Amino acid sequence: MIKFYRRALNKLDKLNTEQRRELLVSAVGEISLLETVLDSIDVGILVCDEKNNLVMVNKCALRMLPLNYSEGIPLLQAIKDDELIAFFKEILFNREKVINWEIDIDQQGKDRLLSVNVVPLVQDRRITGSLIYMEDITEKRKDESRLRRAENLASLTTLAAGVAHEIKNPLGSISIQLQLLQKTLAKENKSSGKKTSKYFNVIKQEVDRLNRIVVDFLFAVRPMSLELREGDINKMISQIMEFLRIEMEQANILCLLELDEELPKILMDERYMKQAILNLVTNARAAMPNGGVLTVATNHVEDEIRISICDTGIGISEENIVKIFEPYFTTKETGTGLGLTHVYKIIREHQGEIMVDSAPEQGSEFKIILPIPQKETHMIAYNEGGAV
Ligand SMILES: Nc1ncnc2c1ncn2[C@@H]1O[C@H](COP(=O)(O)OP(=O)(O)O)[C@@H](O)[C@H]1O
Ligand SMILES: [Mg+2]
Repeated sequence: MIKFYRRALNKLDKLNTEQRRELLVSAVGEISLLETVLDSIDVGILVCDEKNNLVMVNKCALRMLPLNYSEGIPLLQAIKDDELIAFFKEILFNREKVINWEIDIDQQGKDRLLSVNVVPLVQDRRITGSLIYMEDITEKRKDESRLRRAENLASLTTLAAGVAHEIKNPLGSISIQLQLLQKTLAKENKSSGKKTSKYFNVIKQEVDRLNRIVVDFLFAVRPMSLELREGDINKMISQIMEFLRIEMEQANILCLLELDEELPKILMDERYMKQAILNLVTNARAAMPNGGVLTVATNHVEDEIRISICDTGIGISEENIVKIFEPYFTTKETGTGLGLTHVYKIIREHQGEIMVDSAPEQGSEFKIILPIPQKETHMIAYNEGGAV
């Protein structure tokens, strides 16, 4: 296009007024197209002439930089940031080329990271000014560091899972050797003393504790492979409560079951779901050291099943409630802090949600929502006229 205008320029004195007007209109159209393109891209562009006066600034640059722009104003006068001024002063006056210089700037109270490039503008083999173009790389940098963190965490988790796995085997061996040792000593009549059996018990307890930590950790970090089958939540809850009946009675806890008889079956992995409910009930029991009421209820609303596990125990403070699903958060002396982490993971793997409502001294309610699988609807194409 530029060639066309150059040619026209050479023949300008041969053109009549109408032709000159047409030429000008066409040139204005071209410039306006160019401006629209420059204003539409996500790169800030500034053009300076050889005296470092600003001759062009696109909209993106105006958004990116603290700039007081009017055509022809010296760049250093237009910029309102000391660090940028110092940078451009050095670069422009030495006519240096700069690629990907990163600078933090304050954009109307927001911290942004810019990558700035400065290249000499060459026209007809002569440097006629400078082209400055810049990109906002704040989000890109954040994504990169997020990805790096996720990768680090993933490799750390794999490493820790490997170590945990390696600890599990010798623990099993220690446990067996301990039993053998105890039996051998008993045979040789060497462990009749109370002290010896006390020591044995302490070692056993500690080994069990280590084993539980390792097993729980491995469960929390390993991907879960669910075997989904149609199952009856009500039946499962009744079994769990029956299993715990005597323990609850002894702890002075009244157990109420409010099960929705019309509850539809859902797809679930019963082993995991059982563990989730059991963890919640165990927590509820621990929250009522002086007894209380435990209510387990189910109901269904439209395409969801709801399970509620409600206790009248010590409740959870506002400060702690945001932490309870975090791994290793516990307020108990011998707690692992992994119970609710497992529950959360199990429910999420079942496409469900878990919520908690609690107030100190009032009790807590854990609510689970699970989707009911949609029955496939078979659409039969019907055509009165016969074959479709
Ligand atoms: N029903 C509940 N009532 C009061 N606090 C609870 C209840 N359930 C959980 N919590 C709090 O959440 C913490 C984490 O629970 P969990 O992950 O099961 O670990 P743990 O039971 O080993 O402490 C508990 O230590 C307790 O402070
Ligand atoms: Mg627990």
